[in-house]
Parts: sequence; structure tokens; C-alpha cells
Amino acid sequence: RTAFHYDNGALFCEGVALKDLASRWGTPLYVTSKHSIEDRYREFEAAFSGLEHFTCYSVKANFNLSVIKTLGDLGCGCDVNSAGELFRALKAGVPGSRIIFAGVGKRPDEISYALLSGVLMLKAESLSELRAIDAIAAERGLTAPVALRINPNVTAETHPYITTGDSKEKFGIDEAELPEVFSLLGELQHVRLVGLDMHIGSQIFDPEFYVAAITKLLDIFNYSRSKGFGVEFLDIGGGFPATYDPMKPETPLDRFADKIIPMLKPTGVKVIFEPGRFLLANASVLLTRILYRKRNHTGKEFFVVDGGMTELIRPALYQSHHEVLSVTRHDETVVADVVGPICESSDFFARQRAIGDAPEGELLAVMTVGAYGAVMSSNYNGRLRPAEVMVEGSDVQVIRRRESFEQLIQNEV
Ligand code: LLP
Repeated sequence: RTAFHYDNGALFCEGVALKDLASRWGTPLYVTSKHSIEDRYREFEAAFSGLEHFTCYSVKANFNLSVIKTLGDLGCGCDVNSAGELFRALKAGVPGSRIIFAGVGKRPDEISYALLSGVLMLKAESLSELRAIDAIAAERGLTAPVALRINPNVTAETHPYITTGDSKEKFGIDEAELPEVFSLLGELQHVRLVGLDMHIGSQIFDPEFYVAAITKLLDIFNYSRSKGFGVEFLDIGGGFPATYDPMKPETPLDRFADKIIPMLKPTGVKVIFEPGRFLLANASVLLTRILYRKRNHTGKEFFVVDGGMTELIRPALYQSHHEVLSVTRHDETVVADVVGPICESSDFFARQRAIGDAPEGELLAVMTVGAYGAVMSSNYNGRLRPAEVMVEGSDVQVIRRRESFEQLIQNEV
């Protein structure tokens, strides 16, 4: 049975009725299933068990401390993209030795913080960044473990805002620069090459894009060895897809594993994965209350709800599809737009969708929001960031309190 399911016409998260959570903690409310996170992680580990590897959860998908800790407790590492995410991962109890520091533009203070935290490796995305890491490590009397993030120039088929392995994007070191990079590595005294890294994008359904990019990465691996630089890690990034169908979570990873493992296993080098969405997407829903229903002269229907793009920006930013379910099942449906209270036409969760014919005052659940949901929330329009709860069986913990008006202005003069 899936983490979210109907029982006698009421939508549940594990053993708890969503309606009860809304009454207790108000709306909009993020509800996360702890078992769902654990199950997806175990599935991921099982799929790649034939390969010596280390999984570093991509914290950007959901940086809540309790989420990080859930995965950290299972032995998972973290991929962090800023000092703030590093701070979170450390606070959640993940040791520096299990953290990878990434990011296309790292500030000197971030590089220092990562070095002093003893991270497993820092990714270098340019010649200049490699020099900067070396200089900062020298100042501290340290040697920085670095991985080169390569731009494999593979255009994965996904939303253009989330493809990252293409030469027209800002990410990684271009192949043409590699001779210069390796000669620089020979000169720098305070960096030690430990890995080669890539990430081709997010929500990648076709394993062939991994095949193409890993082929490039292996060429570079051979080139690196020919220059006298062996590495301990090959990091192939994240991007494994989630189904966005909460009742059928996640396609099996076998079709990825079947292609990827035979390519990487012969290297004898440990492989690093950085999944985010796969582990988290179907772990959470956003509960929102129907404030008003209205219909215009063209017959178009709207559900105006109390959550909006400030809580979940994905539909506005990527035209992403999220299922919207009525928390009390209604067999009759109406075709409607589900819209929020923000002053933007892009403030919608669904457009022209068949929605259960729920009356005003009832609840809707926006599904598959565990990845890139709460983390991308904002205070636009003076909105308070929502509360988040985590469900484990019939136990419920508040993992983030709702923001207060005082917090909204606390840093202002
Ligand atoms: N590693 C690196 C270097 C990344 O940049 C990312 C995601 C990941 C791993 C994890 O990718 P995943 O396994 O989650 O696909 N906000 C967008 C997604 C942005 C992804 C950014 N990078 C969305 O809501 O679709």
C-alpha cells in the first residue's frame, strides 16, 4: 500500500487522516511520510547494490532537518549546494566526511566552511574555482579533496530549466579546457583530485542520456589516468525520475541500473549518486483548504484555495503537473482551475482539471510535492511559510512550525 491512500473515502498519510492533520495544524500544510522516504531510499540502494557506491541525497530537493536526518540515519550522505545547506546537513547529524560540496559559484567563505567541515570533496566547476580552492586551502594549511565537475555536453530531454549537462548551460568544466585543468592540477599544492563528476539534469526518463554522459565521463577518466591522476570516485549526479502519480510511486530503477552498472563496474572506482527527486517527490502532499468556488460567464469553474505559488511554485515555474485530490472522496467531478490567493495569474496548482466536487471549506491535497516544494517557498505577498509535519505510522511530528508575523519582519528596520 502506498504512503497516501483512501480509506473509507478519506485520504490518509500512512495511519493518519489528512483531515485530522489540517484541523490540528491548519492549512496550508506540508505532510511528509517518513516511511515513503525510507522505502524509496532502500529501493534505490537495492537497485544499485551490484555496484560499489555511495548515495549522497541532494539536499536541495528538501532541506528540512528531519528529512535529512531520516536519510542520514540510514547511512546516506548529502550533496549540498551552499553553505546554508552544509549547515543544515551538519545540524541534522550528517558528518562532513559524508558530505559533498557542490555549486557553480562558491564564495571564499563557503569554500573555507566546507574545508573546515572536512567534506568528502568539493566540486570544482572552473579553472578559476580550482585556483580559489587551492589558495584557501593553502591559507588554512590544508589539502582540499576536489572533484572536477565536467560538462558532458549531453542534452537530456526534460524541462529546459532543469537540464544541466548541455554546453549552452553554465554548469561544469568544458571538455576543451581539460588539458589546462590537468596541467594546473599538476602545479597546485593544496588540492588533491579525488573525483570526476557530472549531473545531466532532473526528471530524466530515458537511461540513454546517462549512457551518453557516462561514456564521456569514462573518456575523461581514462584521460585523467593517462595524465597520472587516478580518482577514487566517479559521481554521476542525480536526475532519476519520479512518477508524479502518487498512487503508483516511482518506476523501477532497474532500467537505469541495467545500463549504468555494466559501464561503471569495470572501473573498480566507487560511484557516487546524488538523487533528490526520486527519494522525496512522492513523500509529501500539500494540504490546502477550499476558500471559495466560483464560475464565470463562460462557465469556467475556479476553486480558490488558501495555498498558492508561495508554497509550491513548480506549476508556475515549470508548468509541472501535480495531481489534486479531494481529501474527502467525491465521485462526482468538475473541470476547474485550482488557484491560490496570490496576485499573479501564474498562481495556480492545476488548470482545467477534473477535481472532486468538494464544497467550500473542504480540503484538497496537492500531490507529489516532497521534492522542490517547501524548499522553494517564499514570503511573496506577505505570506507566512507553511507548517510541515512528518507522519510515521500513526505518529505525527511537527518538523517545521508555521511562520509568524513577527518572523516575517524580524530582520527589518
Ligand atoms: N546533483 C546536482 C548537481 C544537481 O544540480 C541536482 C539538481 C541534483 C543532484 C538532484 O537532482 P534530482 O535527483 O532531484 O533530479 N527545482 C527543479 C529541479 C531543479 C534540480 C536542480 N539540480 C524542479 O522543481 O523540478
